[in-house]
Amino acid sequence: MQAPPSNRPALPTALPSTPETLLPLVLQAMEGAPDARLRQLMASLTTHLHRFVIENAVTEAEFEAAVEFLIGIGQATGPTKNEVILAADLLGVSSLVAVINNPASGSSESHAALLGPFWRAHAPDCEPGQSIVREPIDAPTLEVSGTVHGADGRPLPGAVVDVWHASPEGLYENQDTSQPEMNLRGRFTTDAQGRYRLRTVVPAGYPVPTDGPCGGLLRAQQRSAMRPAHLHFMVSGPGHRVLVTQVFPHDDARLASDPVFGVTAALVGHFEEALIDGQPGKRLRHDFQLLAGPTVFPKPPIP
Ligand code: BEZ
Ligand code: FE
Repeated sequence: MQAPPSNRPALPTALPSTPETLLPLVLQAMEGAPDARLRQLMASLTTHLHRFVIENAVTEAEFEAAVEFLIGIGQATGPTKNEVILAADLLGVSSLVAVINNPASGSSESHAALLGPFWRAHAPDCEPGQSIVREPIDAPTLEVSGTVHGADGRPLPGAVVDVWHASPEGLYENQDTSQPEMNLRGRFTTDAQGRYRLRTVVPAGYPVPTDGPCGGLLRAQQRSAMRPAHLHFMVSGPGHRVLVTQVFPHDDARLASDPVFGVTAALVGHFEEALIDGQPGKRLRHDFQLLAGPTVFPKPPIP
């Protein structure tokens, strides 16, 4: 017996019937984006995502877990913490973006490193040699000095060295109500010879925040949350690109296990034992060389 004629409309031919035929349709749907860079990035990202789902036969439960994770990192982000950046850090993506966008300049000490979630714009301007310790701390003094060079290799007067780091307890001032506002943060302007000089306390290693979804990921992967001790620097000067970097003490036992992959050999500084005002402390000399280009500051991860 013949089937009764269907009164359903004819279907378009280009409907997905297999996992592999879905991707070309999605790519085609995105082709009309007028912004060429958006078109390229979204096509590439979508292609990688489709391949990832197919290769790993991602289950519905796993897809839901991924969605929950993304919602969680958004919800855990607020005035004192940026969990979205932290997730990118733990995947090595922040370090990768920093490295591919900042070719090492003439000085090997001027490699870039990830910004991290704790930079605040508008740290106090400081006089040469001033301490960024804004309330006495029982920890050895660290004296840091060096020269900022411009793209032509000459010392750069009027460059700004913005420095920030965690307390000896491993907390940034914005994470710790017992610290004064802007503690262990400051901006120093280089003198006529391009030199800067500052005082602080010897930094300690600390765990990246583990109270949000990223902490759950680290535990599931049995990874350490502890970063090696470090100082953050953001160095800028007119006509030059902004250099964001970090410096790590040579004797830190965690140099090879940084959970955010920020350590490169060039960023290991010699923290030399020294007597400072007659007390045992440390001295670090670190020079920076900037690249020519527009001065564009990153968006502060926290206010
Ligand atoms: C930091 O160095 O401040 C940092 C970087 C990545 C994740 C957490 C903290
Ligand atoms: Fe840090």
